[in-house]
Amino acid sequence: MKDFIAVSDYSAEELQDLLDLAVRLKKEYFAGGNQPLLQGKVLAMIFQKPSLRTRVSFDMAMRHLGGDALYLSPAEIGLGKRESIADVARVISGYVQIVMARVFDHAHVVELAKWATVPVLNGLSDYNHPCQAMADALTIYEKFGSLKGLNVAYVGDGNNVAVSLMYVCTKLGASFAIANPEGYGLSPDAVELGEKFAAETGASVRLVRDPHDAVRGANVIYTDTWTSMGQEEEAARRAKVFPPYQVNAALVAEADKDVIVMHCLPAHRGEEITDEVADGPHSVLFPQAHNRLHAQKALLARLLGVA
Ligand code: CP
Ligand code: NVA
Repeated sequence: MKDFIAVSDYSAEELQDLLDLAVRLKKEYFAGGNQPLLQGKVLAMIFQKPSLRTRVSFDMAMRHLGGDALYLSPAEIGLGKRESIADVARVISGYVQIVMARVFDHAHVVELAKWATVPVLNGLSDYNHPCQAMADALTIYEKFGSLKGLNVAYVGDGNNVAVSLMYVCTKLGASFAIANPEGYGLSPDAVELGEKFAAETGASVRLVRDPHDAVRGANVIYTDTWTSMGQEEEAARRAKVFPPYQVNAALVAEADKDVIVMHCLPAHRGEEITDEVADGPHSVLFPQAHNRLHAQKALLARLLGVA
């Protein structure tokens, strides 16, 4: 596979192999530092939206592996505006060895990958967030030793993060339940794919309205912002319908006693998650954010064929 655009493009074996490589690279890093596997390689990072985690973790992943990264801000490239995506892709392929792009429209990262002769990673689109999903899966894997047979409950908006989480869970054998307000669910196409992956691994996909129903027996509770980047004009309307979907201590108490609580961040404390939960004993929010670094090292090393 040349690119990493969606988790659904990869087999369960390839995903598990990436997780095992991430574990190995993480261990190596904490044992004194990574080998300079990516010496002489440069990652171009194209951003149409803001970022903390994606930008810094990709940059540091390249540095730890002996490579370098270039940050191209929303104001700089004008992907599809200043010049066509096909032209950007062909120009940049002559300068760097690998590209990561965070875009509004998923079709734009697909187009970039189509024309680029170097690997392209999706650093979040309106459809999914596969690099986040790999860090999430790594976090769950480290905690439970396997995703197989776990129950993952996503509470909130059926957004980009929910889609890739569903794919990685069902591919690796975890059942996925989502509770969202009416009109804010996953797309039928995404659900169909998730159900197909679940059928292959003996897992399930459950779509429910009631967050209490979703978290009963859950090993993982996951939430994300009610309003994603690009939906700002809907924020007031969303703020009215989402409050019953807040992940608070009462909701967490209904899950398995060893449940972990996850959030891709940035968190809107007091909205989708309370301080009590975000900073409480079940929270893995910061190890999860730090795992972006290790999961992405594995992706970079595999796509560049050095590990
Ligand atoms: N979770 C995540 O992708 O965070 P950033 O938007 O800060 O990159
Ligand atoms: N769903 C959020 C994730 C941010 C990392 C967004 O797209 O804004």
